[in-house]
Amino acid sequence: MPSAQPLRLLLLAGSARGGALSVRLRDAARRLADAAGATTSVIDLRALALPLYDGDLEAAHGVPDGARQLREAIAMADALLIVTPEYNGFPTPLEINAFDWLSRLQAEAPAPSGLASTAGKPVALLASSPGPLGGLRAMNYLRQYLQMAFAMLVVPQQYALGRANEAFDEAGAFKDAKAAQSVAAVLDALLRVAGALRSA
Ligand SMILES: Cc1cc2nc3c(=O)[nH]c(=O)nc-3n(C[C@H](O)[C@H](O)[C@H](O)COP(=O)(O)O)c2cc1C
Repeated sequence: MPSAQPLRLLLLAGSARGGALSVRLRDAARRLADAAGATTSVIDLRALALPLYDGDLEAAHGVPDGARQLREAIAMADALLIVTPEYNGFPTPLEINAFDWLSRLQAEAPAPSGLASTAGKPVALLASSPGPLGGLRAMNYLRQYLQMAFAMLVVPQQYALGRANEAFDEAGAFKDAKAAQSVAAVLDALLRVAGALRSA
């Protein structure tokens, strides 16, 4: 890592159900990021308690505070790692809804707008699925969404963990060293970009 200060990495999973494969992959990736010297934190999208986006609700009550929690976590991070499941080829409603609400937040000095909190921020994507492709299609749509709408710098390296239901041992470690290496390579690329941007 180019900087003496540890890089701050925020990790998100696109599912919050008990036993979620994306949470298991997020936690395994977090251990690798810790080992690489990053300072890691996670945010639980379900705990933000964001209702399904509704313009009438926004007009009546404003943007829910959960979106501010997400904005603060993103603003504090040097880089994000998002682990997405795949629902019918797409990222999950939990992920998209959280970022849609984030996009509605105006600047509230000293806090930036939701979109300003993401602009230029590096992010890497992982996906997980019990299927053979591991959620590859969802990851590619998520890449487009984050680049196009949120001006995020999505690093080219990504990894989809297929057969994710068989990928972890009881301690949550990867059974296959190649999977661990693939995730580590994505993290390495992300942290290199984040380090270079911070020193720029
Ligand atoms: C509505 C729905 C659609 C799904 N579509 C896909 C899909 O397109 N591709 C895939 O690989 N798995 C699909 N699955 C299976 C998920 O990959 C699987 O349920 C996975 O465990 C969900 O992620 P999680 O474990 O992180 O909650 C779908 C599951 C649901 C509930």
